Amino acid sequence: MATNLTIDEIRDYLDSLVPPRPPEMQAMEAYANEHGFPIIGPAAGYLCYQIARMIGARRVFELGSGYGYSTAWFARAVEENGGGVVHHVVWSEELSQKARGHLAALGFGEIVQYHMSEAVQALREASGPFDLIFNDIDKQGYPESLPVIAEKLRPGGALIIDNMLWSGRIFDENDQSPATQGVREFTRRITTDQGWIASLVPIRDGLIVAYKK
Ligand SMILES: C[S@@+](CC[C@H](N)C(=O)[O-])C[C@H]1O[C@@H](n2cnc3c(N)ncnc32)[C@H](O)[C@@H]1O
Repeated sequence: MATNLTIDEIRDYLDSLVPPRPPEMQAMEAYANEHGFPIIGPAAGYLCYQIARMIGARRVFELGSGYGYSTAWFARAVEENGGGVVHHVVWSEELSQKARGHLAALGFGEIVQYHMSEAVQALREASGPFDLIFNDIDKQGYPESLPVIAEKLRPGGALIIDNMLWSGRIFDENDQSPATQGVREFTRRITTDQGWIASLVPIRDGLIVAYKK
């Protein structure tokens, strides 16, 4: 058994197993690396794509979409599932415009619907039900998003939530910041609620993958 395996080595290995992405997605990954923009990255993106394919998702709602990297993985799945819609929601005009450029270049212009809005409010106003909901908003907003998500996701649908390891800050008892508390509280709620089957998958910064009963 190898010892002293680092988190970075595991991350690089998992990323290396993901099949090559189109040049536009590679450019999005390079931008994130260069500018420190928090995208989900190849291994977590591929898992999102895989889950969306496994459940045949055709109606996907994303909360906190950035410049569209995670959206691209969901759009690819929806297209391969026969078509549908992926809602891209971010409150920044600049990121929304940037996402439109990337996703049009990838050929997903018809699949993605753009909302420049606070994401939980956009979900509240959206007509569900959705097959899959992905949550990547500011972490202090996680706990209050759960009842809205539960209402809009179909039974048998999948919820994926990013940053559930929060770079290890959840383990630091001195860290009582709203973001860290938000991750802890969301984890407590979803893992103790009888309405969900939820597991934390420790890819990159940790994804909770939950099935709505
Ligand atoms: C972590 S980044 C998104 C990364 C994206 N999911 C990806 O992997 O490509 C989150 C983005 O959502 C925005 N955001 C955070 N909280 C939000 C909220 N409540 N409503 C709308 N946008 C939000 C942030 O400003 C940021 O641009």
